[in-house]
Amino acid sequence: MATGAAALIESSKKAAAFQAVDDYLLPSHKYVGIGSGSTVVYVVDAIKAKGPEFYGGMTFIPTGSQSKGLIRKAGFTLSNLDERPIVEGKAVPLDVAFDGADEVDEDLNLIKGGGACLFQEKLVAAAAKKFIAVADSRKQSPRLCTKWKAIPIEVLPMAAPDVLAKLQVMGSTNPIVRSGLPSKAGECVTDNGMWIIDAPFPSLLLPKDLVDGQDGSGKDGVWEINKLADALIKLPGIVEIGLFYGFNGNEAVKNAKILPAQKPIAAYFGLPTGEVHVQNAA
Ligand code: A5P
Repeated sequence: MATGAAALIESSKKAAAFQAVDDYLLPSHKYVGIGSGSTVVYVVDAIKAKGPEFYGGMTFIPTGSQSKGLIRKAGFTLSNLDERPIVEGKAVPLDVAFDGADEVDEDLNLIKGGGACLFQEKLVAAAAKKFIAVADSRKQSPRLCTKWKAIPIEVLPMAAPDVLAKLQVMGSTNPIVRSGLPSKAGECVTDNGMWIIDAPFPSLLLPKDLVDGQDGSGKDGVWEINKLADALIKLPGIVEIGLFYGFNGNEAVKNAKILPAQKPIAAYFGLPTGEVHVQNAA
């Protein structure tokens, strides 16, 4: 059992998860995304605590093998992203998805992938009408790459040398392929059979930070988050990036966006005091 500071962190994650589920999971919901990591364990506990009469009609969609195991262990109905019914030519959206995060900035951009599950996490977040992030307050940060220094990037293994070289040209200092140690010799292999590169970048600016003719496109090492994310995702060999950016589910509906939303509409942060701070999208 965790003691001292570790116990406080666990209780803060739990408080955030329980409040997020109370606020955003409705008995009418049919499809629910369950993310990966240690905080999502409490999301599953919170749903379970509501009882089978509440969640019995729901189907849960995982973001990887850990998440699948959590859903199974809880006795929830498990399905997969590609098994949702097709209505009017489209897979039905998830009503809501809950997931952890490694760092959350002032505009609710996220770094994810600390647990190497970022690709399926992004697919599930993008398939959901509402995506809710849950975390302890250490994850809240004014700008990304401030507390969590490196961006996790999922790559095709054979492309890793070229992607590493390109990342260095783009200003990443010492990007590395993540090791599987101590549990696995060699590289960390994702649920999709890919590798993860952790790419350190200087703190990522928000569009409103750009001043004096700065364009945020990496000149002098200054990157604005959207510009960096757009540049990374275009690199051959990169399968997905651990930056969740762009717009959220509410904005997607409002602006009839065609591209899928990646950002959460709210982030719940548990504090060591037991309080929960909710950061809502503007
Ligand atoms: C998994 O790859 C990650 O994106 C997790 O969602 C993230 O690392 C949060 O994990 P914790 O809840 O364990 O902090």
